[in-house]
Amino acid sequence: MKPEAVSVAVVGSVNLDLVARVEHFPVPGETITGATVDRHPGGKGANQALAAHRLGARVYMIACLGEDPAAEEALAGLKAAGVNLDYCQRLPGESTGLALILVSGTGENQIVVAPGANAAFHAEHLRMPRTDAVIAQLEVPQDTILTAAQRNRGFFTLNAAPAKPVAREVLVETDLLVVNEIEARALGPALEHYDGLLATTYGREGAVLTRHGQEVAQAESPKVKAVDTTGAGDTFTAALTVGLVSGMEPKAALSRACVAAAISVTRPGAQGSPTLEELDKFQQDRIEWWTRGGSNP
Ligand code: RIB
Repeated sequence: MKPEAVSVAVVGSVNLDLVARVEHFPVPGETITGATVDRHPGGKGANQALAAHRLGARVYMIACLGEDPAAEEALAGLKAAGVNLDYCQRLPGESTGLALILVSGTGENQIVVAPGANAAFHAEHLRMPRTDAVIAQLEVPQDTILTAAQRNRGFFTLNAAPAKPVAREVLVETDLLVVNEIEARALGPALEHYDGLLATTYGREGAVLTRHGQEVAQAESPKVKAVDTTGAGDTFTAALTVGLVSGMEPKAALSRACVAAAISVTRPGAQGSPTLEELDKFQQDRIEWWTRGGSNP
C-alpha cells in the first residue's frame, strides 16, 4: 500500500507550546535571563498527526481542546496542512493544553505540561472514523485510548509517552509500542507480557525493533546538528507507523523513521517533521555522500 492510501486516526493531545531558548537549564532556585520565547503548535498527538500527514497518510486528528483563543493557535499547524479536524471538540469550561518548554543551546529540552482539555478527554467524548491505523500517546486518559483501540480494530500504535505505567488491557490491543529508555522503565514488568512489536529509541544512537525480546531490525540515526529535539519521538512514531502499515519491510521503515526524526531536530518547534519529498532527498544525499566515501553523515 502506498503511504497516501493509508488512513490514520491520531487519538491524543493538542497543546500550545511556549518555548524558551536558554543557554543552559536553570538549577533549582536559579533565575536565567536573556531567553527568547516563541509560541508553537504542539502536543504529542498533534505532532504525530502532522508528521503522518506530511508522509502522505490521510490523517484524522481526534482531540479535545478548550473554549479559548489558544485552541485556534494550537490547531494552526494541522489546519494549514489540511489534516482532518472534524473530530476535534471544544470542551466547555476547559482550557487548551499548554506546554512550557525550555530548549538548551544543545537542543535538549525540559517540558512541563498543563493538560487542560486533554486530561478531560474521556471515552464518552470519543468519535472517530474507521481507519487503517490508530496512533495514541499517554497525554489523554487511558480509558479513551483503550476504547479507541477496541473500536477501530485497525493497526494500533501506542507511543507510551510521557513515561508512565500502561494498563495491561491497552497493551493487549497494541501492535506497535514505541518508547525511549525512560518510558520503557516506567512500563516495568507489564512489558514482559507484551506480544506486539516494540520500538525502542536511543536518541542520536538510533532505534531497535524487537518482538518477544528478539531483534527484528535496528537502525542508526544520521548525524545532524540538533537545534531542538522536541517532538523527535513524535515524528519517529508517525513515520514508523505509516511505513509499517503501508507495507514497508521493518528494517526500511525503522531506518526511515530514524531519518525523519533526525531531520525534525534540525528545525525549531515540535512540528518540524519532514515531507516525503524532503525525506527522500535527505536519503538520496546520504547515499551520494556514502558513495563518495563518507560515513554516516
Ligand atoms: O513530544 C513533544 C510534545 O510534548 C510537545 O509538543 C509538548 O506539547 C508536549 O506534549
